[in-house]
Parts: sequence; C-alpha cells; structure tokens
Amino acid sequence: KRPDNHVIVLFGATGDLAKRKLLPGLFHLAWAGLLPDGYRIVGAGRAHSALTDEAFREHAHDAVATFGRCKPSGPAWESFADSLSFAAYDQDAGQLLAAVREAEDSLGGQPGRLFHLAIPPAAFGSVIGMLGDTGLAEESKLIVEKPFGTDLASARALNETIHTVFDESQIFRIDHFLGKESVDNILALRFANGMFEPVWNRDHISHVQIDVPETLGLEGRAHFYEGTGAFRDMIVTHLIQVLGIVAMEPPVSLAAQPLRDEKDKVFAALRPIEPGHVVRGQYNGYHDELGVAPDSQTETFTALRLEVDNWRWAGVPFYLRSGKNLAQHRQVITLGLREPPLRMFPIDLPREDRSRGNKIVIDFGDPGWIAACFLAKEPGPTMRLAPEAMTFRYADSFCREHGLEGYERLILDAMLSDQSLFTRADGIERIWEASTPLLENPPPLQGYDPGSWGPEPAISDLIAPHQWYLEDAG
Ligand code: BG6
Repeated sequence: KRPDNHVIVLFGATGDLAKRKLLPGLFHLAWAGLLPDGYRIVGAGRAHSALTDEAFREHAHDAVATFGRCKPSGPAWESFADSLSFAAYDQDAGQLLAAVREAEDSLGGQPGRLFHLAIPPAAFGSVIGMLGDTGLAEESKLIVEKPFGTDLASARALNETIHTVFDESQIFRIDHFLGKESVDNILALRFANGMFEPVWNRDHISHVQIDVPETLGLEGRAHFYEGTGAFRDMIVTHLIQVLGIVAMEPPVSLAAQPLRDEKDKVFAALRPIEPGHVVRGQYNGYHDELGVAPDSQTETFTALRLEVDNWRWAGVPFYLRSGKNLAQHRQVITLGLREPPLRMFPIDLPREDRSRGNKIVIDFGDPGWIAACFLAKEPGPTMRLAPEAMTFRYADSFCREHGLEGYERLILDAMLSDQSLFTRADGIERIWEASTPLLENPPPLQGYDPGSWGPEPAISDLIAPHQWYLEDAG
C-alpha cells in the first residue's frame, strides 16, 4: 500500500540522525517506489545553520552516499533531490510556513503533512508551540523522537505539551527498534507457529536476555550523550520496547489498539527497578572524549535485571544489557529453556555446554537469524552430547533489498496513519514510573576497558547462575 501525497518536514535536517538514518532512509523508500507519487521534503533547521535548497540537496547527497544502501545517482536520485527544500524555523516561523505552503501548492490537492522532530528534547516545546500557532498542526501527523522525557515528570509534561496542540491520533512516538524487520518477526515467530508459543512462559523458560552491546563509541555525539547516558538512550527506550514484544500476550488482532494494549500491559506488570539489580559502567577514557565533562557521571553501560510480574512470567528474570565501546556489536535475545527434569545421559557435559544447547536465540541485527539450540548425540558408540542448532538466516532465505530498515518502515507507517508500531503515552509513562527507584538512587559507576563486555565481576554476578549468551558463544 502506498501513502497519499505528502509533504514531510524534517526538523533537525542537518543533524546527526537525519544524516545517518532519515535522509538515507527516505531516499531508499523513494528508490523502492514506496513513497507517494507526489511528495516534497522540507528540511527545517535553526537559522544559524540554515542552508540554501541547493546546499541541502548536497548535504542529502553526502548523507546518502555515506550512510545509504542505494547510490544517490540516476533518475531516482534526480527526482528525490528535486523534492528537497530547506527553511529555517527558529527566528521566523513565516519562512517555514511559506516553504510548506509552496510544497503543498506544487503537489496540488490536499497532501498529507508529516512533521518529524529529530531535534533535542529541549527544543520540542517551542517547535510544537510554533506548529500550533501557525496552524500547521491541523490535520498533520507528528513523529517524536526518543528518549521521550528523562523521567516520569518530564515525560508527563511532554505529553501534556504535545496534547495542547496535537490529538493522540496524530502523534507517532518513534522507537526505531520496533520498526526492525526481525523485531516485527517475533510476532510471526510466536503467533503464527505452533512450535514456540507453548514453551514461551515461566514453566519452560528460566530467564531471558536482551543484549545489545555496541562497539561504537560516542561518534561525535557527546553533547547528546552526556545528557542522556546508556539507560535513557537504549534501555528505557529500545530494549524495554523489545521486551514488550517478547513478553506480551497474543493480541486479538494486529491492529494498533490491541497490539499496543498487550504491549503496554507488560509495562504495567514491570516491577519497580531495584538499584541493587543494576550495573552502571563508564568506559575507561570516557573523560578524555571531546565534549565530555572531566567529572562526568554519565553511564556508557547499563546491565540490569527486570521482572515482569504477571501470570506468564512471574519469577523469570529478564536481563538487559547495552553499552558503548564493548567487545561486539550485536542485538540478541536469548530465551534460556529449563533443563529436563531427569538427566539420563551417562556423560555429563560441562554446565556451559548444557546451557548452550538449550535455548532459543534471536539475533535481531541486520540481517538477523533465529536459532533453536539443542543437544545432539555425537556419532559413535558412546552417548556423547554436543550443543547444536537449527538456524534460520534472513540472508539465506530473503532478498535484503526488499526489507526496510527501522526508520523506513516507521516513516512509511506514519504516512499511512498506522500507529501499531509506535509507542503510547501510557506505556512510556509506566516505564518511567518503574525506573524511578533507579533514577533516584543510581548505583555508583564502575569502570570497564574499551573492547570488554563491561564491568566484571559485576555483570557475571548479576546474571548468575546463568551466563551471558554472547560471551559464552564467543
Ligand atoms: C540510537 C541510539 O537510538 O540507536 C544510538 O541513540 C545507538 O546510541 C542506535 O547506537 C542503535 O541503533 P541501530 O539501529 O543503528 O543499531
């Protein structure tokens, strides 16, 4: 399904997110023929960094050439570049208003209007006020970037500010992990098959890991990261949203309301996070990074144990971990299965091998894979067991060009007014509420070496008696 004609206004058009994800993603959508027949993209930036239309096209060209999946050349690029224009918005709202009207007139009729706020949260209020004052908010859709607030009070305040101008049906709070192909596939894996769901509960699963280590460091984003840190940048947003998909009950349908109702019920069942179940780390050398305060207490690593207090999951720990400058760049969910009650095999495997064989692993990196890990008998006269796996790999089964990246999928959904994969105010506020004990009483930072798995022995102690799958798998 293709959306109706649209004017897309990208606030923060010269920023890091636009460069890495949004401009390349929009071009990929155009290249794949998924944008509407008629579309215009208005880059909106602050007056001090304002660009001419031509300079914005060059900026977009560089962004696509550096970070995009398809080359910015040929007729597809020409027509994409023609759709781009730029307006400053912070000193004179008239400029933006004129640019949007001009784009709408060029398309004719009544095109949809989509605003994407890829700007620091501190700037949300004034931009939203401006969209209300100019009348641009009417009949529009608004994509708001994460992190949505910094705690419960600020998330509530932000929701109130947005609701003064936009109705909930117009608001698309984006978390691009929910747009990832292999996160969406968890719904198919669980609810389209008879094989997995029967074991997907406390009777059969001993623990769950959602592990997103990154080898990346700050990448020039110290200004953003210093005010955010690993917990707000990754855990409270991406990892807990993925947890919502892993842990939810089957929705009655995949329509936006039942899907989001079931996901939000998981957040309603989250136990308040105990600071004693959290490891906060900062990589050694962080203070030497450009833009980092010499006494910065920002964490670049968080690992924690969460509990979902409901019928399906009571007593099953969920371990979440993410951080910068770690040993591997991975995005992996592991469901550890309980061991069979009787160990009848004469040769006892070391415990790591036993647990290696008994789990479901979902790699939701791009392109991802899913493995059902089990123990098999090694050929030979004795009953010797070895860990093996049945693995499905996206790259072997599907053509990657047809897939969309998280942002691409979600921008397309927003144009189609489909809120299914966007987060809701009540769910987000509930996550902040469960985070309050940690935010009020954060445990001390522990140092870790760049290239390691985080602060030891704290992270091994946190997950004991289990092991982190990624460290175990090598
Ligand atoms: C962003 C975070 O939301 O997600 C980054 O701000 C992180 O710090 C990124 O690196 C990871 O997303 P992806 O899709 O590139 O793995």
